[in-house]
Amino acid sequence: MVSSATETQNQHPKLDPGALDSGAVDSGTVDKSGTRVREMFRQIAPRYDAMNHLLSLSVDRYWRWRTVRMLRLDSDEPVLDTCTGTGDLAIAIAKKAPSLKIIGSDFCYAMLEIACRKRRLQTASESIEFIEADSQALPFADDSFQCVTVAFGLRNVTDTDRGLGEMRRVCTPGGQVVVLEFSRPRLIGLRQAYGFYFSHVLPRIGQWFARNDKSAYKYLPESVGQFPDGQALADRMTAAGLTDVRFTPLTFGVATIYRGTKPKEA
Ligand SMILES: C[S@@+](CC[C@H](N)C(=O)[O-])C[C@H]1O[C@@H](n2cnc3c(N)ncnc32)[C@H](O)[C@@H]1O
Repeated sequence: MVSSATETQNQHPKLDPGALDSGAVDSGTVDKSGTRVREMFRQIAPRYDAMNHLLSLSVDRYWRWRTVRMLRLDSDEPVLDTCTGTGDLAIAIAKKAPSLKIIGSDFCYAMLEIACRKRRLQTASESIEFIEADSQALPFADDSFQCVTVAFGLRNVTDTDRGLGEMRRVCTPGGQVVVLEFSRPRLIGLRQAYGFYFSHVLPRIGQWFARNDKSAYKYLPESVGQFPDGQALADRMTAAGLTDVRFTPLTFGVATIYRGTKPKEA
């Protein structure tokens, strides 16, 4: 059962999807309006997991595993995984810390339905709750979660800075904000080969596999190409009010984990 944002509303203004959908803020030429992104994920939801594992040769599982290992879980406060999609990161966190309350939030109901099914199959734990919510207006009180995570989701949020600001807001002082996102390899040769795979091979496999949406896997290389990575994204996290921001490239820099801390003193 997926909870809606309004059911779980807690000291926070009601969602105004119209306002959030209105502009392609921070998105260069890629259309990242909420309506478009939500509809795209609704269409690919049934095949999302299979595509993910196929296109990354299952390395995505390793990337999430590395992310979970970097989480600083040192209290009994809950953890929030935003843009949780089909819930892989939330479920991986629950497996590492079964006694903690984990919330996975996403604005695409179709993705969350799959997350709920997987939770039932993969964990005995009742500790994960999935909630339908926009990452740009999280329906949680300030300082609620010891860790706030996002895997391959921030790039899709219309306004990156607003998404980061919300992650920081709901994180407890001293808590951690962690972002796992695609990045571009720095190594000459590999960078070009990766660019070719990402722009030419991957969209073709994606279109063939995800039959009903031809644009989804064209969107992937475009959105990665226009999204900040490395120091540029670390700087955006710092600008969002996080301190001690570090990043760790994975698999020759194809993905990167970014970690920041919410300062104890505001
Ligand atoms: C590429 S999927 C990543 C899913 C999952 N975190 C993973 O690791 O596989 C991106 C997810 O972000 C969600 N998303 C994009 N923009 C969002 C927003 N503004 N608010 C909430 N969810 C959003 C999409 O619905 C989608 O499920």
